[in-house]
Amino acid sequence: MKLRFLLLITVFTCSLAFGQGNNYVQNYSKFDGLVLTPPMGWNSWNRFACNVDEKLIKETADAMISSGMKKVGYTYINIDDCWHGERDSLGFIHPDMKRFPSGMKALADYIHSKGLKLGLYSDAGSQTCGGRPGSRGYEFQDALTYAGWGIDYLKYDWCNTEGLKAEGAYKTITAALRKAGRPMVLSICEWGTDKPWVWGPAVGHLWRTSGDIFNCFDCVEDHGTWKSWGVMQILDKQDGLRQYAGPGHWNDPDMLEIGNGKLTPGEDRAHFSMWAMLAAPLISGNDLRDMNQETLDVLTNRNIIAINQDVLGIQGFRYSKINGFEIWFKPLNNGNWAVSFLNRSPEAKKIDFDWQAEKVKDEIFQKELNANTIVYNIKNAWTGKALGTTRKSLKTEVPSHDILTLILEK
Ligand code: GLA
Repeated sequence: MKLRFLLLITVFTCSLAFGQGNNYVQNYSKFDGLVLTPPMGWNSWNRFACNVDEKLIKETADAMISSGMKKVGYTYINIDDCWHGERDSLGFIHPDMKRFPSGMKALADYIHSKGLKLGLYSDAGSQTCGGRPGSRGYEFQDALTYAGWGIDYLKYDWCNTEGLKAEGAYKTITAALRKAGRPMVLSICEWGTDKPWVWGPAVGHLWRTSGDIFNCFDCVEDHGTWKSWGVMQILDKQDGLRQYAGPGHWNDPDMLEIGNGKLTPGEDRAHFSMWAMLAAPLISGNDLRDMNQETLDVLTNRNIIAINQDVLGIQGFRYSKINGFEIWFKPLNNGNWAVSFLNRSPEAKKIDFDWQAEKVKDEIFQKELNANTIVYNIKNAWTGKALGTTRKSLKTEVPSHDILTLILEK
């Protein structure tokens, strides 16, 4: 009798202990329902590098509103590398208090009070690329800290990650964000090394497909141990990736260099149009407090943004490429299409495009542009001007390093 009683107690306590110990299942999948169209916002890195502080961030948020950028869809204000101070004796990360004296929570409150969202940056390794404390070993603690501050977006970099496997490392931070409970967009910044487009869709909301962008239209910058890439070089690195992108999971060809002083107005247009055609995140990287009209006109063109933000979320494709002249198509909702004629060459190029003779087919997403059975109205996306219909061939010219982007509407 006594023995039976003891046995019963043992079984009971064991099942209690096991029940408690084992009923927590780690969730390695990202928050769903975020960025169903490509994220739009601003990031500090391209223009300010490590020179970030709360004054800049607040003024940028103010400028995003006063410039009209918020009205056309820009939402995220993302602080990149170098906001960090030290970890305290309990391991909690703190911002650099000289640069962010009011703390991150107060800054997030300010950003939220303006109807915008705040993004932050960390790194899967021991240190960020800028040598600040990384999140390795502190993933759950950092995620909790960010959630407590009210962060909405995390860019997670890949410096100093020796011995780590990318998919596992990004799954860890996803699980940590999940556990912290505040929905955050996860931007995987792994530079495309370990094919993030294959495992990234389940783990994060966007993933870098290449190394860093360099502020030039067509050049490669050699830093010795690594290279950064001009706008056209980045564009070429997107080949073969479009099937991996879609609502909530985007290829990220890096942040915009528009308005940073090195591209001509035509190159700025080409950069913006092509990022729209690629359904890429539109993360501006210039000084929003000090933009000229040309920059603002490019960044806020509603037709180009509509191409980027189309609900189907289909990444465009290169249809042809001859002597530095490329034609790109992107299927849009309601059977409409965006088309871009990109002139990468040093001289102007003539176009004579017979819509009815061309066979435009998107084999991956099963879309077909058939100008023989459907007459599309043509609109110049940059100017908004109507350009007739697809019944007639398009005859025009594109200047060197410029682009013509059209919207074909049924
Ligand atoms: C890496 C990233 C960049 C930027 C810097 C910050 O190079 O790819 O986008 O975040 O680190 O140090």
